[in-house]
Amino acid sequence: MGAIEGQAVLLNAPGEDAVLEDILVDSPGPGEVRVKIAASGVCHTDLTVKNLKGMGMTFPIVLGHEGAGHVVDVGEGVTHLAPGDPVVLAYRAPCEQCPACRRGDPRHCYVALRPAQRIKRKRDGALCSQVLRCGTFSTYTVVHAKAAIKMPQNMPLDKACLIACGVVTGVGATFNTTPITPGSRVAVIGCGGVGLSVIQGAKLANARQIIAVDINTTKLQWAQQFGATDVVNANDGDPVAQVRALTEDGYDGGVEYAYEATGIPKCIEQAVKMLAYGGCATTIGLPAATDAVTLNLGDMATGVYWNKAAIHVCHAGDTLPSNDFPLLAQLYLQGRLNLDSMVSRVISLNDVEAAFHEMETGAIIRSVIKL
Ligand SMILES: NC(=O)c1ccc[n+]([C@@H]2O[C@H](COP(=O)([O-])OP(=O)(O)OC[C@H]3O[C@@H](n4cnc5c(N)ncnc54)[C@H](O)[C@@H]3O)[C@@H](O)[C@H]2O)c1
Ligand SMILES: [Zn+2]
Ligand SMILES: [Zn+2]
Repeated sequence: MGAIEGQAVLLNAPGEDAVLEDILVDSPGPGEVRVKIAASGVCHTDLTVKNLKGMGMTFPIVLGHEGAGHVVDVGEGVTHLAPGDPVVLAYRAPCEQCPACRRGDPRHCYVALRPAQRIKRKRDGALCSQVLRCGTFSTYTVVHAKAAIKMPQNMPLDKACLIACGVVTGVGATFNTTPITPGSRVAVIGCGGVGLSVIQGAKLANARQIIAVDINTTKLQWAQQFGATDVVNANDGDPVAQVRALTEDGYDGGVEYAYEATGIPKCIEQAVKMLAYGGCATTIGLPAATDAVTLNLGDMATGVYWNKAAIHVCHAGDTLPSNDFPLLAQLYLQGRLNLDSMVSRVISLNDVEAAFHEMETGAIIRSVIKL
């Protein structure tokens, strides 16, 4: 079929705003698929890539990594997908080669399958990088064929796209990274797209108490709609003390599981201090290269040593996309996973900068670009 003309939201240089540009998208190579994007969520990580000046990727960069669409054509050797198939794009499709994959633990794959660079900026032919190997703020993209996960025909793609990052990360944090024992107490710090998905996962896992922590009252109201049993506004005083008071049980309170979904180092410290004895804090937010946390070891009440606190790191919900994406779609179709209420705005490719601004200043869960 040859190259297809399209448009994509590009970061052209460090410090610049994202702009819509004409692009050329080459045919998929062996083991790749070309996808016509139908919808893409705007995740905080896209904004972080902009704010952190590309995070090591070469410019120009096609933004977006929470996308769904239809297969246009498949490269040599691809037999599990055909043109027209509805797919959600996975940025952590296991490589099948690394030590984790070889020992049969693909959820902890060290790397992820990536396509060759097939997107060019039309005006000068510059080869584009794709955020997290996806690049979904685009009319077309090319991904590794194993990163394109087929959806049921009745799954709406403007909801399915959310599975690709925010939902699989948040729900996956509670299913895979740090599975919740039924009847546990859970705190979730940060109630954006990821944190609200943690809350949904905690509810599906039959947590007894789900305490939502945020600084935005609207987010806290939404958190209750998604399953939070209690809310804590971190602007109303130390969130650690508030969570401990809400969980007072004669042993100083605390939660068995705390999930941080803000990307703010002090919130990771808070998550650790919220734990009951033997609890586990899971950090999800994306750090900058110089971010660091200070953890007390020896405090008898909240020190990591005496409180026997564990810390896990969540990468995309430790997902195995070929298993998890269809599962999450099924939960949505059964009415057990709420994706509809996560879409606060439906926008176009022209609105990405406005969506970034609203993410930082307004009360929105997800803006979804519909093409
Ligand atoms: N680890 C992963 O695989 C992965 C995947 C997706 C996103 N992320 C990261 O997760 C984080 C959350 O992503 P998102 O898309 O949900 O972002 P978001 O901007 O939608 O949500 C962040 C939330 O944190 C709240 N917040 C800000 N300061 C706070 C504070 N001091 N205390 C409590 N809450 C506070 C905000 O009000 C907002 O509701 C980002 O850092 C993102 O880059 C990581
Ligand atoms: Zn994301
Ligand atoms: Zn691997």
